[in-house]
Amino acid sequence: MWDRDGNEYLDAYNNVVSIGHGHPRVVDAITRQLYKINTNTRYLQHDVVDFAEDLTSTHGAGLSMAMFTCTGSEANDLALRIARQATGGTGIIVSEYAYHGCTRDVASWSPAGRSEANLPKEVRVVPPPDTFRGSGEPSRALAEHVEAQIEDLRRQGIRLAAFVVDPMFSSDGIFPIPNVLGPAVQRVQQAGGLFVCDEVQSGFGRTGAALWGHQWVGQNPDIATMGKPMGNGMPIGGVVTRADILEKFKDVGYFNTFGGENAPVAAAQAVLDTIRDEDLVENARRRGEDIRRGLSNVIERAGVPADVRGAGMYIGVDLVDDLDTKKPMPTVATRVVNGLRDRHVLISAAGPYGNVLKIRPPLVFSEADVDRLISEFDFVVSRL
Ligand SMILES: Cc1ncc(COP(=O)(O)O)c(C=O)c1O
Repeated sequence: MWDRDGNEYLDAYNNVVSIGHGHPRVVDAITRQLYKINTNTRYLQHDVVDFAEDLTSTHGAGLSMAMFTCTGSEANDLALRIARQATGGTGIIVSEYAYHGCTRDVASWSPAGRSEANLPKEVRVVPPPDTFRGSGEPSRALAEHVEAQIEDLRRQGIRLAAFVVDPMFSSDGIFPIPNVLGPAVQRVQQAGGLFVCDEVQSGFGRTGAALWGHQWVGQNPDIATMGKPMGNGMPIGGVVTRADILEKFKDVGYFNTFGGENAPVAAAQAVLDTIRDEDLVENARRRGEDIRRGLSNVIERAGVPADVRGAGMYIGVDLVDDLDTKKPMPTVATRVVNGLRDRHVLISAAGPYGNVLKIRPPLVFSEADVDRLISEFDFVVSRL
């Protein structure tokens, strides 16, 4: 990226243009489509059906139905409408600092995106599985918290509709832990609820091990939602689920004027094809490992207390005052983020305290990009 003075920046933060800014395949697909037709799904056409079939074929466990939206928020909004209709419940369980979107409904169950302190009575939170500060086995701890919240909802006469999870727990501070969701999801399904996997952050290869975060974490969802990288910057999101879950929603129906228009669908098809053709999941794995190794080496050399964690190209560096007390250090995180920006490298910080460096480059990050990121990180950290 270049600023107005022509300075070049390395973008190590952008998971929307995940196959790269201005990717020619996406530009070409959109342009050709715009010359042909760009209209809504009331006009049934092959490309949207072909894309839906391609997209659902990348999922397992009977997730064979797709619906398209313009944003991740709309996808989560729709997922909850479907879940409530299918289960007859209204209760929702999310992680403590989850963010799932900006519509009125989704914001009401996104603790990180709310201005009001109190959550609605049907919304319950559980601590994220925390391998750094938490104690005990994370999947068991998560399941116990979920069970307690299901019980509490039950005591208040509220039936569970959904447990909504970003499998990387991004806004909670980045805790990608394989196999962490199984026991919790089991409790949810026993209580008649559905597991909604929010793939807005973890989808489209980011984990470096699979196309979908739920495949990486090893837990099939009842409903998957997606957005952000889906159109490499074109506004498209989606919901993928099973036919039996949509049975009751059929009578409600769903229409979204711009959701599933031809041009965003053309972009999304180009993204999916490029991820496969350029082997970008594998690139995310390799370069992600390189980045984590490089960051850990710098941190160790500089004697900065921190926990480096992540999966593929989603990496967190939890900066603390001391590895025993683990007090979060947001001021240090801000200095690193701004210091890197001054060196023309873009990252950010996340988590409830804002002390976890968030490094989430486009999946096309090269070895040279990794070298530059690490050497600039070294420069900034050694001057803290
Ligand atoms: C996990 C997660 N879900 C949903 C959303 C909402 O997506 P959008 O901004 O496209 O509405 C976001 C956005 O940051 C997100 O991080």
